[in-house]
Amino acid sequence: MNSSIDLTGIGKPALLEVSDLEARYGHARVLTSITFSVAPGEAVVLLGRNGAGKSTALKAIMGLEVELQGRILLDGRQVGGLATHHIARAGAGYVPEDRRIFAGLSVAENLAVGRQPARDGHAWSEAEIWTLFPPLQAIADRRAGHLSGGEQQMLAIARTLMGNPRLLLLDEPSEGLAPVILARIAEAVATLKARGIGLVVSEQNLGFVRTFADRVLILETGTVRFAGTLAELDADPSLVTRFLSV
Ligand SMILES: Nc1ncnc2c1ncn2[C@@H]1O[C@H](COP(=O)(O)OP(=O)(O)O)[C@@H](O)[C@H]1O
Ligand SMILES: [Mg+2]
Repeated sequence: MNSSIDLTGIGKPALLEVSDLEARYGHARVLTSITFSVAPGEAVVLLGRNGAGKSTALKAIMGLEVELQGRILLDGRQVGGLATHHIARAGAGYVPEDRRIFAGLSVAENLAVGRQPARDGHAWSEAEIWTLFPPLQAIADRRAGHLSGGEQQMLAIARTLMGNPRLLLLDEPSEGLAPVILARIAEAVATLKARGIGLVVSEQNLGFVRTFADRVLILETGTVRFAGTLAELDADPSLVTRFLSV
């Protein structure tokens, strides 16, 4: 089942529609003809080995670093080529691979820095963040630079949520984290989906995304080699050996 079709069927455009996206760093073209869409409450996962173009795809959507061609519609509005702060204001939140939290600020202060005006009548509160990521509450006053990798990843996601995004882009959230933390983050992603947030998650860890991925795209050298459901991916084990590290 393709849930984006279900939701667009009621006359509502997809939350994110990427068509024929190309991206280049200077003269080096690193994405070719990427097309996919994300509906509200849906998680699309970009899989692929190092250098496949996953981070570049997220950066292109966010208006960071690359020159791009093609269409990027957020809530039906072309945002491709806009400045990053306009894309954020239009509803996209981005958690980069290096998390970029403020090491010298406390957990609570990092959340306060991320706070933006309400969207669709809702603004994330600290209390809701503690419900989503219970371990953060006990360390609300701790400096972010003193947190474990897992705590920092939870904080990075939480801080981005304070901007009240409709669309959340996560770049390899599982990288370097222990299984117990991965389970917690996967559970949080499922909660965000249930709240209607659409997600694009870049990953190399197929096991991590299994509980929340609605559809997966496999990228190799900046091109989509496979797009489908997890069941469709599992039906062809050669995809994993050809395009993913195991
Ligand atoms: N800032 C940059 N300048 C030039 N080339 C880059 C830059 N960042 C990434 N690349 C190249 O773009 C390709 C895709 O990289 P990336 O999107 O980071 O892949 P992934 O996230 O899947 O590991 C790689 O060949 C990489 O070397
Ligand atoms: Mg990357």
